[in-house]
Amino acid sequence: MSVWKVSGGKKLFGDIRIQGSKNAVLPIMAAAIITGCETELLNCPQLSDVEAAMAILRHLGCKAERDGDTVWIDSRGMNRTDIPHDLMREMRSSVIFLGAILARAHEAALSYPGGCELGARPIDLHLEALRSLGAEISEQGGSLYCRDKGLKGARINLSFPSVGATENAMLAACGAEGETVITNAAKEPEIIDLQDFLRKLGAEITGAGSSTITISGFVPQEKIGHRVMTDRIVSATALCCTASAGGCVTLKGVVPAYFETVTSVLESMGCEIERRSTSVKITSDGKLHAPRPIVTRPYPGFPTDAQPLLMAASLKAAGTTVFTENIFENRYRHVPELLRFGADISVVGRVAVVTGVNELIAAPVTAADLRGGAALITAALGARGLTTVYDTGHVVRGYDDFDKMLLSLGADISYDPETLASVV
Ligand code: EPZ
Repeated sequence: MSVWKVSGGKKLFGDIRIQGSKNAVLPIMAAAIITGCETELLNCPQLSDVEAAMAILRHLGCKAERDGDTVWIDSRGMNRTDIPHDLMREMRSSVIFLGAILARAHEAALSYPGGCELGARPIDLHLEALRSLGAEISEQGGSLYCRDKGLKGARINLSFPSVGATENAMLAACGAEGETVITNAAKEPEIIDLQDFLRKLGAEITGAGSSTITISGFVPQEKIGHRVMTDRIVSATALCCTASAGGCVTLKGVVPAYFETVTSVLESMGCEIERRSTSVKITSDGKLHAPRPIVTRPYPGFPTDAQPLLMAASLKAAGTTVFTENIFENRYRHVPELLRFGADISVVGRVAVVTGVNELIAAPVTAADLRGGAALITAALGARGLTTVYDTGHVVRGYDDFDKMLLSLGADISYDPETLASVV
């Protein structure tokens, strides 16, 4: 059990550089095994999810080393095609390795990725896409067994623009004979970063960022260098932290357009925003008013990952903020914990209604998932008193040195990864 302690009421001031993107680097690390090659990844965030992906690569027979924010992968020695339960359990999004293993070895065995705190997390769209390319997939004893007699290019229409299914289809298509066209593809920026990497790997691929992606060939390269894009959700988190605590913070080295949906909502709540080509500056006196209703949608809509964070920033906003969570069926697990601060939130199905209160009072709370845990820390920054957030390792899955980032801005926060404190 790890513990974050936040003494609220301190405004945040300063400049920060945002970490590399968790949701971009994970599919890129999977892509590095499509062909035997040496890959150097720059701007790799230091996250437990990245460590989990490195453990999978090593299990498959690859080399995976880290030096600071650089990760080297040598996949020439890959000699296995299975991912066992203990490694799948570490990170359910490891299913993203399936398409890449099939593209390389034309067989794969994975322990079925279970659900998570956000819900069932089915992978039916992933499997449908791989079957369209000719994969034969059976499920037995909690595992998926996949094989193909040579993947064939196909037209894949996704019934929902699933990020993971789009990525798995892209990776497998690199190992297919002939052209693959993916329609109703996810348009998230992380898909564009994956396309950039796949082009360096030797893929003829176009369309990422639009709803139609075409992979029409693959000439493997042996050495690839790539700088991972900046994390747009961590960028949104830093903005919400400043809105919650008040202050003036500049995010550097970012792509403002990638999180403009969140930035514009905070601006409508009364924050002052200054946008430049690679930076965003936010100024807030901490006195906010409620924004228009927030509805989460696939990109370029409002991102589901930022919903908990914006909710934390809206708890003292004058008026009523209405959230509708359309992406995951169970993404309000931070609400009962936020209520412990004295927040006023009611949830009916996918709708959460937040009525602004004058003050939040610190309380011991427990992180239930990654972004929900970050939301508790965000709320604690704007609460009176010392908040303790108990966390079984959720936040460090996606945030690299979150405490150090906030400390550099003047927050009064400490993080103890190994506290054996009894949960209150
Ligand atoms: C990715 O998850 C991200 N994770 C999530 O970030 C993010 O919330 C999500 O995309 C949406 O943007 C990574 O990139 C590692 P989906 P993914 O497939 O790929 C349903 C975070 O906090 N669905 O777009 O799993 C699914 O149940 C994490 O960083 C199917 O029904 O998201 C969900 O309701 C959380 N069948 C919806 O689609 C499928 O085969 C969106 O899922 C696949 C998905």
